[in-house]
Amino acid sequence: MNDAVRAGITALGVYAPPKVVSNADLEQIMDTSDEWITSRTGIRRRHVAADDEFTSDLAFRAVEDLLRRHGDHALNGVDMVIVATNTPDALFPATAALVQERFKLRAGAFDLLAACPGWIYAIGAAKAFVESGQCRKVLAIGAEALTKVVDWDDRSTAVLFGDGAGATVVERVPEPYGIKSMVLGADGGGAHHLHMRSVGRCLPNGTPLGKYMAMNGREVFKFAVRVMDTATVQAVAEAGLVPDDISLFVPHQANLRIIDAARERLRLPPERVVVTVDEYGNNSTASIPLAIAHALDAGRVDAGDNLLVVSFGAGLTWAAAVITWGPWAEARRA
Ligand code: COA
Repeated sequence: MNDAVRAGITALGVYAPPKVVSNADLEQIMDTSDEWITSRTGIRRRHVAADDEFTSDLAFRAVEDLLRRHGDHALNGVDMVIVATNTPDALFPATAALVQERFKLRAGAFDLLAACPGWIYAIGAAKAFVESGQCRKVLAIGAEALTKVVDWDDRSTAVLFGDGAGATVVERVPEPYGIKSMVLGADGGGAHHLHMRSVGRCLPNGTPLGKYMAMNGREVFKFAVRVMDTATVQAVAEAGLVPDDISLFVPHQANLRIIDAARERLRLPPERVVVTVDEYGNNSTASIPLAIAHALDAGRVDAGDNLLVVSFGAGLTWAAAVITWGPWAEARRA
Protein backbone atom coordinates (compact mmCIF):
# COMPACT_ATOMS: atom_id res chain seq x y z
CA MET A 1 0.00 0.00 0.00
CA ASN A 2 1.08 3.56 -0.72
CA ASP A 3 1.92 4.91 2.77
CA ALA A 4 0.69 8.36 1.83
CA VAL A 5 -2.92 7.26 1.33
CA ARG A 6 -5.06 5.45 3.86
CA ALA A 7 -8.81 5.04 3.72
CA GLY A 8 -11.04 5.27 6.76
CA ILE A 9 -14.67 5.58 7.75
CA THR A 10 -15.71 9.23 8.06
CA ALA A 11 -19.48 8.96 8.45
CA LEU A 12 -22.01 6.42 9.63
CA GLY A 13 -25.78 6.11 9.82
CA VAL A 14 -28.06 3.25 10.78
CA TYR A 15 -31.66 2.12 10.75
CA ALA A 16 -33.63 -0.63 12.42
CA PRO A 17 -37.34 -1.02 11.65
CA PRO A 18 -39.58 0.05 14.56
CA LYS A 19 -41.52 -3.23 14.63
CA VAL A 20 -40.10 -5.40 17.41
CA VAL A 21 -40.78 -9.12 17.84
CA SER A 22 -39.86 -10.44 21.29
CA ASN A 23 -39.12 -14.01 22.27
CA ALA A 24 -42.47 -14.01 24.07
CA ASP A 25 -44.15 -13.07 20.77
CA LEU A 26 -42.44 -16.05 19.10
CA GLU A 27 -43.70 -18.36 21.87
CA GLN A 28 -47.20 -17.54 20.58
CA ILE A 29 -46.53 -18.68 17.02
CA MET A 30 -44.06 -21.59 17.31
CA ASP A 31 -42.84 -24.28 19.68
CA THR A 32 -40.07 -22.34 21.38
CA SER A 33 -39.38 -20.53 24.64
CA ASP A 34 -37.73 -17.35 25.79
CA GLU A 35 -35.52 -19.49 28.00
CA TRP A 36 -34.27 -21.61 25.06
CA ILE A 37 -33.58 -18.64 22.81
CA THR A 38 -31.92 -16.51 25.49
CA SER A 39 -29.72 -19.27 26.89
CA ARG A 40 -28.58 -20.58 23.48
CA THR A 41 -28.15 -17.26 21.66
CA GLY A 42 -28.50 -14.20 23.94
CA ILE A 43 -31.26 -12.87 21.65
CA ARG A 44 -34.24 -11.26 23.41
CA ARG A 45 -35.95 -9.46 20.54
CA ARG A 46 -35.40 -8.59 16.88
CA HIS A 47 -36.49 -5.71 14.63
CA VAL A 48 -38.59 -6.80 11.69
CA ALA A 49 -39.30 -4.89 8.47
CA ALA A 50 -42.93 -4.13 7.69
CA ASP A 51 -44.65 -6.16 4.95
CA ASP A 52 -44.11 -3.33 2.46
CA GLU A 53 -40.58 -2.43 3.65
CA PHE A 54 -37.65 -3.95 1.74
CA THR A 55 -33.87 -3.83 1.74
CA SER A 56 -33.68 -0.65 -0.38
CA ASP A 57 -36.03 1.12 2.07
CA LEU A 58 -33.81 0.13 4.99
CA ALA A 59 -30.71 1.30 3.10
CA PHE A 60 -32.35 4.67 2.30
CA ARG A 61 -33.20 5.18 5.97
CA ALA A 62 -29.64 4.39 7.05
CA VAL A 63 -28.28 6.94 4.57
CA GLU A 64 -30.81 9.52 5.82
CA ASP A 65 -29.54 8.88 9.36
CA LEU A 66 -25.97 9.36 8.12
CA LEU A 67 -26.98 12.73 6.63
CA ARG A 68 -28.68 13.74 9.90
CA ARG A 69 -25.60 12.86 11.93
CA HIS A 70 -22.96 14.31 9.63
CA GLY A 71 -24.72 16.99 7.54
CA ASP A 72 -25.89 17.24 3.94
CA HIS A 73 -22.34 17.57 2.64
CA ALA A 74 -21.47 14.04 3.84
CA LEU A 75 -22.34 12.51 0.47
CA ASN A 76 -20.65 15.20 -1.65
CA GLY A 77 -18.17 13.57 -3.99
CA VAL A 78 -19.37 9.98 -3.49
CA ASP A 79 -18.35 8.24 -6.72
CA MET A 80 -19.17 4.61 -5.86
CA VAL A 81 -22.04 2.94 -4.00
CA ILE A 82 -21.71 -0.61 -2.71
CA VAL A 83 -24.62 -2.35 -1.02
CA ALA A 84 -23.67 -5.56 0.75
CA THR A 85 -26.80 -7.64 1.08
CA ASN A 86 -28.11 -11.20 0.93
CA THR A 87 -31.66 -10.00 0.41
CA PRO A 88 -31.62 -7.50 -2.47
CA ASP A 89 -35.03 -6.20 -3.57
CA ALA A 90 -34.28 -7.71 -6.98
CA LEU A 91 -31.45 -9.78 -8.47
CA PHE A 92 -31.16 -6.84 -10.82
CA PRO A 93 -31.11 -3.93 -10.75
CA ALA A 94 -28.63 -3.76 -7.90
CA THR A 95 -30.01 -2.25 -4.71
CA ALA A 96 -26.98 0.05 -4.87
CA ALA A 97 -28.38 1.58 -8.08
CA LEU A 98 -31.62 2.37 -6.23
CA VAL A 99 -29.56 4.14 -3.53
CA GLN A 100 -27.61 6.03 -6.22
CA GLU A 101 -30.88 7.28 -7.76
CA ARG A 102 -32.57 8.08 -4.44
CA PHE A 103 -29.71 10.38 -3.38
CA LYS A 104 -28.90 11.58 -6.92
CA LEU A 105 -25.25 10.55 -6.69
CA ARG A 106 -22.91 10.75 -9.67
CA ALA A 107 -21.51 7.33 -8.90
CA GLY A 108 -21.07 3.74 -9.99
CA ALA A 109 -23.16 1.24 -8.09
CA PHE A 110 -23.07 -2.49 -7.41
CA ASP A 111 -24.25 -5.04 -4.88
CA LEU A 112 -21.87 -7.34 -3.07
CA LEU A 113 -22.83 -10.77 -1.77
CA ALA A 114 -20.53 -12.25 0.85
CA ALA A 115 -23.14 -13.26 3.46
CA CYS A 116 -22.90 -11.72 6.93
CA PRO A 117 -19.32 -10.40 6.49
CA GLY A 118 -20.60 -8.40 3.50
CA TRP A 119 -20.22 -5.00 5.13
CA ILE A 120 -16.57 -5.70 6.01
CA TYR A 121 -16.02 -6.94 2.44
CA ALA A 122 -17.65 -3.68 1.24
CA ILE A 123 -15.37 -1.44 3.28
CA GLY A 124 -12.48 -3.65 2.10
CA ALA A 125 -13.46 -2.99 -1.53
CA ALA A 126 -13.96 0.69 -0.71
CA LYS A 127 -10.51 0.85 0.89
CA ALA A 128 -8.96 -0.62 -2.27
CA PHE A 129 -10.89 1.80 -4.51
CA VAL A 130 -9.81 4.80 -2.45
CA GLU A 131 -6.19 3.83 -1.81
CA SER A 132 -5.63 2.95 -5.49
CA GLY A 133 -7.00 6.33 -6.56
CA GLN A 134 -9.87 4.72 -8.50
CA CYS A 135 -12.48 6.43 -6.31
CA ARG A 136 -12.59 9.42 -4.04
CA LYS A 137 -15.43 8.53 -1.77
CA VAL A 138 -17.38 5.28 -1.44
CA LEU A 139 -20.78 4.82 0.19
CA ALA A 140 -20.58 1.30 1.65
CA ILE A 141 -23.86 -0.05 3.01
CA GLY A 142 -24.95 -3.25 4.72
CA ALA A 143 -28.72 -3.71 4.45
CA GLU A 144 -30.82 -6.75 5.15
CA ALA A 145 -34.44 -7.86 5.17
CA LEU A 146 -33.65 -11.40 6.30
CA THR A 147 -36.96 -12.01 8.04
CA LYS A 148 -38.48 -12.21 4.55
CA VAL A 149 -36.41 -15.29 3.66
CA VAL A 150 -36.56 -17.28 6.90
CA ASP A 151 -39.03 -20.12 7.14
CA TRP A 152 -41.33 -19.06 9.96
CA ASP A 153 -42.25 -22.74 10.42
CA ASP A 154 -38.62 -23.64 11.19
CA ARG A 155 -37.93 -22.73 14.81
CA SER A 156 -34.20 -23.55 14.46
CA THR A 157 -33.64 -20.54 12.14
CA ALA A 158 -36.66 -18.24 12.54
CA VAL A 159 -35.74 -17.15 16.07
CA LEU A 160 -32.24 -16.04 15.09
CA PHE A 161 -32.65 -13.30 12.51
CA GLY A 162 -33.74 -9.67 12.21
CA ASP A 163 -33.63 -6.75 9.78
CA GLY A 164 -31.67 -3.49 9.61
CA ALA A 165 -29.16 -1.36 7.74
CA GLY A 166 -25.95 0.56 8.27
CA ALA A 167 -24.39 3.09 5.88
CA THR A 168 -20.78 4.29 5.95
CA VAL A 169 -18.66 6.70 3.94
CA VAL A 170 -15.11 5.53 3.19
CA GLU A 171 -12.57 8.07 1.97
CA ARG A 172 -8.99 9.19 2.49
CA VAL A 173 -8.17 10.08 6.11
CA PRO A 174 -5.06 11.57 7.72
CA GLU A 175 -2.61 9.61 9.87
CA PRO A 176 -2.97 7.99 12.35
CA TYR A 177 -6.58 7.11 11.42
CA GLY A 178 -8.11 4.65 9.01
CA ILE A 179 -8.53 1.00 8.16
CA LYS A 180 -5.25 -0.58 9.28
CA SER A 181 -5.82 -4.19 8.26
CA MET A 182 -8.27 -6.21 6.20
CA VAL A 183 -8.61 -9.99 6.37
CA LEU A 184 -11.05 -11.55 3.88
CA GLY A 185 -11.51 -15.29 3.57
CA ALA A 186 -13.76 -18.01 2.20
CA ASP A 187 -14.15 -21.79 2.28
CA GLY A 188 -16.74 -22.90 -0.25
CA GLY A 189 -16.23 -26.45 1.02
CA GLY A 190 -18.72 -25.48 3.74
CA ALA A 191 -21.31 -24.12 1.29
CA HIS A 192 -23.82 -26.82 2.25
CA HIS A 193 -23.97 -25.61 5.87
CA LEU A 194 -25.91 -22.41 5.08
CA HIS A 195 -27.72 -21.74 1.83
CA MET A 196 -30.78 -20.48 -0.02
CA ARG A 197 -31.88 -20.83 -3.64
CA SER A 198 -31.75 -18.11 -6.25
CA VAL A 199 -31.89 -19.51 -9.81
CA GLY A 200 -29.95 -22.73 -9.13
CA ARG A 201 -31.34 -26.11 -8.13
CA CYS A 202 -28.54 -27.56 -6.00
CA LEU A 203 -24.97 -26.97 -4.82
CA PRO A 204 -22.05 -28.67 -6.64
CA ASN A 205 -22.05 -31.42 -4.00
CA GLY A 206 -25.71 -32.16 -4.72
CA THR A 207 -27.25 -30.40 -1.71
CA PRO A 208 -30.70 -29.27 -2.87
CA LEU A 209 -31.44 -25.56 -2.60
CA GLY A 210 -34.76 -24.47 -1.11
CA LYS A 211 -37.00 -21.45 -1.13
CA TYR A 212 -35.98 -20.50 2.41
CA MET A 213 -32.70 -20.20 4.25
CA ALA A 214 -31.42 -23.60 5.46
CA MET A 215 -28.70 -23.94 8.09
CA ASN A 216 -26.75 -26.58 9.97
CA GLY A 217 -26.51 -24.55 13.20
CA ARG A 218 -24.00 -26.79 14.96
CA GLU A 219 -21.54 -26.79 12.06
CA VAL A 220 -21.85 -23.03 11.59
CA PHE A 221 -21.30 -22.56 15.33
CA LYS A 222 -18.05 -24.58 15.30
CA PHE A 223 -16.83 -22.79 12.17
CA ALA A 224 -17.71 -19.39 13.68
CA VAL A 225 -15.79 -19.97 16.92
CA ARG A 226 -12.73 -21.17 14.99
CA VAL A 227 -12.67 -18.41 12.43
CA MET A 228 -13.47 -15.57 14.84
CA ASP A 229 -10.31 -16.60 16.64
CA THR A 230 -7.96 -16.95 13.65
CA ALA A 231 -9.29 -13.94 11.72
CA THR A 232 -9.08 -11.55 14.69
CA VAL A 233 -5.56 -12.66 15.59
CA GLN A 234 -4.50 -12.11 11.96
CA ALA A 235 -6.21 -8.70 11.68
CA VAL A 236 -4.61 -7.44 14.90
CA ALA A 237 -1.14 -8.67 13.85
CA GLU A 238 -1.43 -7.22 10.34
CA ALA A 239 -2.32 -3.86 11.89
CA GLY A 240 0.96 -4.05 13.81
CA LEU A 241 -0.89 -4.26 17.12
CA VAL A 242 -1.44 -6.65 20.02
CA PRO A 243 -4.88 -7.53 21.43
CA ASP A 244 -4.44 -5.13 24.34
CA ASP A 245 -4.27 -2.24 21.82
CA ILE A 246 -7.89 -2.95 20.84
CA SER A 247 -10.14 -0.34 22.45
CA LEU A 248 -13.37 -1.90 21.30
CA PHE A 249 -14.18 -5.32 19.87
CA VAL A 250 -17.22 -5.16 17.57
CA PRO A 251 -18.02 -8.72 16.44
CA HIS A 252 -20.84 -9.90 14.19
CA GLN A 253 -23.95 -10.16 16.34
CA ALA A 254 -25.16 -13.72 15.74
CA ASN A 255 -24.87 -15.47 19.07
CA LEU A 256 -23.66 -14.29 22.49
CA ARG A 257 -21.85 -17.59 23.10
CA ILE A 258 -19.81 -17.11 19.91
CA ILE A 259 -19.03 -13.51 20.91
CA ASP A 260 -17.96 -14.57 24.41
CA ALA A 261 -15.71 -17.32 23.05
CA ALA A 262 -13.95 -14.84 20.75
CA ARG A 263 -13.58 -12.27 23.51
CA GLU A 264 -12.04 -14.84 25.83
CA ARG A 265 -9.55 -15.96 23.17
CA LEU A 266 -8.50 -12.32 22.79
CA ARG A 267 -8.38 -11.92 26.60
CA LEU A 268 -10.45 -8.75 26.40
CA PRO A 269 -12.61 -7.63 29.36
CA PRO A 270 -16.40 -7.49 28.74
CA GLU A 271 -16.38 -3.66 28.81
CA ARG A 272 -14.32 -3.64 25.60
CA VAL A 273 -16.91 -5.63 23.65
CA VAL A 274 -20.05 -4.30 21.96
CA VAL A 275 -23.09 -6.56 22.30
CA THR A 276 -26.37 -5.74 20.57
CA VAL A 277 -27.51 -9.26 19.66
CA ASP A 278 -30.03 -9.12 22.53
CA GLU A 279 -31.84 -6.23 20.82
CA TYR A 280 -31.53 -7.05 17.10
CA GLY A 281 -30.78 -10.74 16.69
CA ASN A 282 -28.64 -11.45 13.64
CA ASN A 283 -29.28 -8.86 10.96
CA SER A 284 -26.33 -10.02 8.87
CA THR A 285 -24.55 -7.26 6.93
CA ALA A 286 -26.18 -4.58 9.11
CA SER A 287 -25.01 -6.01 12.41
CA ILE A 288 -21.55 -4.44 12.75
CA PRO A 289 -22.41 -0.88 11.61
CA LEU A 290 -25.45 -0.97 13.94
CA ALA A 291 -23.23 -2.12 16.80
CA ILE A 292 -20.69 0.63 16.07
CA ALA A 293 -23.51 3.20 16.09
CA HIS A 294 -24.63 1.95 19.49
CA ALA A 295 -21.11 2.33 20.82
CA LEU A 296 -20.84 5.84 19.36
CA ASP A 297 -24.19 6.87 20.82
CA ALA A 298 -23.13 5.56 24.23
CA GLY A 299 -19.93 7.63 24.09
CA ARG A 300 -17.77 4.50 23.98
CA VAL A 301 -15.65 5.57 20.97
CA ASP A 302 -13.01 8.30 20.97
CA ALA A 303 -10.67 9.54 18.27
CA GLY A 304 -7.66 7.23 18.06
CA ASP A 305 -9.51 4.18 19.34
CA ASN A 306 -8.72 0.91 17.57
CA LEU A 307 -11.90 -0.95 16.67
CA LEU A 308 -11.62 -4.64 15.84
CA VAL A 309 -14.46 -5.95 13.67
CA VAL A 310 -14.99 -9.58 12.67
CA SER A 311 -17.74 -11.54 10.97
CA PHE A 312 -18.58 -14.97 9.52
CA GLY A 313 -21.36 -16.42 7.41
CA ALA A 314 -22.59 -18.44 4.46
CA GLY A 315 -20.03 -19.37 1.85
CA LEU A 316 -18.55 -20.07 4.23
CA THR A 317 -16.95 -16.62 4.46
CA TRP A 318 -15.21 -14.57 7.08
CA ALA A 319 -13.72 -11.11 7.45
CA ALA A 320 -11.93 -9.04 10.08
CA ALA A 321 -10.40 -5.58 10.17
CA VAL A 322 -8.83 -3.05 12.52
CA ILE A 323 -10.12 0.50 12.13
CA THR A 324 -8.54 3.45 13.96
CA TRP A 325 -11.50 5.79 14.46
CA GLY A 326 -11.11 9.48 13.71
CA PRO A 327 -12.16 12.72 15.44
CA TRP A 328 -15.53 12.48 13.66
CA ALA A 329 -16.47 9.96 16.36
CA GLU A 330 -18.45 12.64 18.18
CA ALA A 331 -21.10 12.73 15.44
CA ARG A 332 -23.83 11.03 17.42
CA ARG A 333 -27.56 10.80 17.20
CA ALA A 334 -29.03 14.18 18.11
N1 COA B 1 -36.71 -23.41 20.47
C1 COA B 1 -36.66 -24.55 21.18
N2 COA B 1 -35.93 -25.61 20.83
C2 COA B 1 -35.21 -25.52 19.69
C3 COA B 1 -35.22 -24.36 18.90
C4 COA B 1 -36.00 -23.28 19.32
N3 COA B 1 -36.09 -22.13 18.64
N4 COA B 1 -34.43 -24.56 17.83
C5 COA B 1 -33.91 -25.81 17.96
N5 COA B 1 -34.41 -26.39 19.08
C6 COA B 1 -34.11 -27.72 19.60
C7 COA B 1 -33.63 -28.69 18.55
O1 COA B 1 -34.75 -29.27 17.90
C8 COA B 1 -32.87 -29.69 19.38
O2 COA B 1 -33.77 -30.57 19.94
P1 COA B 1 -33.41 -32.13 20.12
O3 COA B 1 -32.18 -32.16 21.01
O4 COA B 1 -34.63 -32.70 20.77
O5 COA B 1 -33.13 -32.62 18.74
C9 COA B 1 -32.30 -28.87 20.54
O6 COA B 1 -33.03 -27.63 20.52
C10 COA B 1 -30.81 -28.61 20.46
O7 COA B 1 -30.47 -28.14 19.19
P2 COA B 1 -28.95 -27.83 18.85
O8 COA B 1 -28.87 -27.62 17.38
O9 COA B 1 -28.05 -28.80 19.48
O10 COA B 1 -28.74 -26.45 19.63
P3 COA B 1 -27.43 -25.60 19.72
O11 COA B 1 -26.99 -25.54 21.13
O12 COA B 1 -26.44 -25.97 18.67
O13 COA B 1 -27.98 -24.15 19.35
C11 COA B 1 -28.06 -22.63 17.51
C12 COA B 1 -28.58 -23.95 18.09
C13 COA B 1 -28.67 -22.46 16.13
C14 COA B 1 -28.51 -21.51 18.41
C15 COA B 1 -26.51 -22.67 17.43
O14 COA B 1 -26.10 -23.87 16.82
C16 COA B 1 -25.97 -21.52 16.68
O15 COA B 1 -26.08 -20.39 17.10
N6 COA B 1 -25.27 -21.77 15.56
C17 COA B 1 -24.70 -20.72 14.76
C18 COA B 1 -25.77 -20.14 13.91
C19 COA B 1 -25.38 -18.83 13.31
O16 COA B 1 -24.73 -18.04 13.90
N7 COA B 1 -25.85 -18.63 12.10
C20 COA B 1 -25.70 -17.41 11.41
C21 COA B 1 -24.49 -17.40 10.58
S1 COA B 1 -24.22 -15.77 10.00
